[in-house]
Amino acid sequence: MRSQGHAGQVLITGCSSGFGKKMVERFLKAGWKVLATSRKPEQMEQQGNLWILPYNVASETDRADITRCVTEICPNGLDCLINNAGYGLAGPLEALSETQIRQQFEVNFFAPLLLTQALLPSLRKAKGRVINISSVLGFTGMPMQSLYVASKFALEGLSESLHYELAAHGIQVALVEPGGFRTGFADSMDWAAGVMPDHPLYHQQFEGYRRFLRRVSTREKGKDPAQVAEVVLELASRATIPLRVRVGDDTQALYYIRRTLPQQIADAVLRRVSRHILQAN
Ligand SMILES: NC(=O)c1ccc[n+]([C@@H]2O[C@H](COP(=O)([O-])OP(=O)(O)OC[C@H]3O[C@@H](n4cnc5c(N)ncnc54)[C@H](OP(=O)(O)O)[C@@H]3O)[C@@H](O)[C@H]2O)c1
Repeated sequence: MRSQGHAGQVLITGCSSGFGKKMVERFLKAGWKVLATSRKPEQMEQQGNLWILPYNVASETDRADITRCVTEICPNGLDCLINNAGYGLAGPLEALSETQIRQQFEVNFFAPLLLTQALLPSLRKAKGRVINISSVLGFTGMPMQSLYVASKFALEGLSESLHYELAAHGIQVALVEPGGFRTGFADSMDWAAGVMPDHPLYHQQFEGYRRFLRRVSTREKGKDPAQVAEVVLELASRATIPLRVRVGDDTQALYYIRRTLPQQIADAVLRRVSRHILQAN
C-alpha cells in the first residue's frame, strides 16, 4: 500500500517543456526513478535516476521502443504512467485540414491510449497507476478549439471507463484537469491551415479568438506549472486516488458552471462566454 513519500518508477511523456519538465524535476526530487520521453532530448539535462527516452509517443515504432525500455529498466513493473504529451489545434472546423484533424487525435488521444495498452502488463505487475493530463477543455466545449476539446473529451471517456475496468487489477486511473498555466502550450499551438472560408463572420470570430488568447496568455504568465507537478506527484504517491482532479481557479469555476448549475442556465452562461470570446477586443 502506497503512502505519502512513496517513491517508485514513473514514465512521463513529453518532457522537454511545460508540465512534463516540471514533473520530471519534482519526481526526481522526491526520489523517484524517472523515465522521460521527449522528441527533443537535447533540451533536457541528464542527471542521476533520470532515463531520457528520445522518442515520439505519436509514432508506433517509438512506442514499441518505449515499451521495451520500460520492461528493461523496470523489471518489477511500472508504478506510474503519466500521459502528458499534447498540443492544441485552433481554428474554425471548416478551415482545418484532415491531416491536422487526424494528427490532433494521434497525439492527444491515440498515443496515450496505445501506450497505456502496451504498458498494462508492466502496470499490473507493480499495481501501478495511470494519470492522464486532460484539461478544463476536457469537460467544457470551446469555440475555435473544437478538435482539441474533442480529443480531451475522448481521453476523459477512455480514462473514466478504464478507471472502472482496471480497478480489480489493482491499477488506478485518474485525470488531471488543469486550467491555463504558463507553459510552452500557446507557442506550440497549431493553427488552421486550410483556406479560411470566404465568410466575413469566420474572419471576425477568428480574430476575436486570437485577441482572447493573447489576453489569456498574458493573464496566465503568473501561473506556475509547478503547481500541477505537485498535484500529480501527490496522486502518484497516495494510497487511493480520485478519478478527477482539477487544478486552477478557472477550471474550478467552469466545473461549477458546467456540472452544478441547471443545464439551461449553464448553457446560457457558456453561450455568453463564447460570444464574448469570439468578439474579444
Ligand atoms: N498549459 C496549459 O495551460 C494546459 C492546460 C490544460 C491542459 N494542458 C495539457 O497539458 C499537457 C502538457 O502541455 P503543456 O502545457 O506543458 O505544453 P508544452 O510546454 O507545449 O508541453 C507539451 C509537451 O508535449 C509534447 N508534444 C507537443 N506536441 C507534440 C506533438 N505534435 N507530438 C508529440 N509530442 C508533442 C512535447 O514534448 P517533447 O517535445 O519533449 O516530445 C511538449 O514538450 C498537454 O496534454 C496539454 O493539453 C495544458
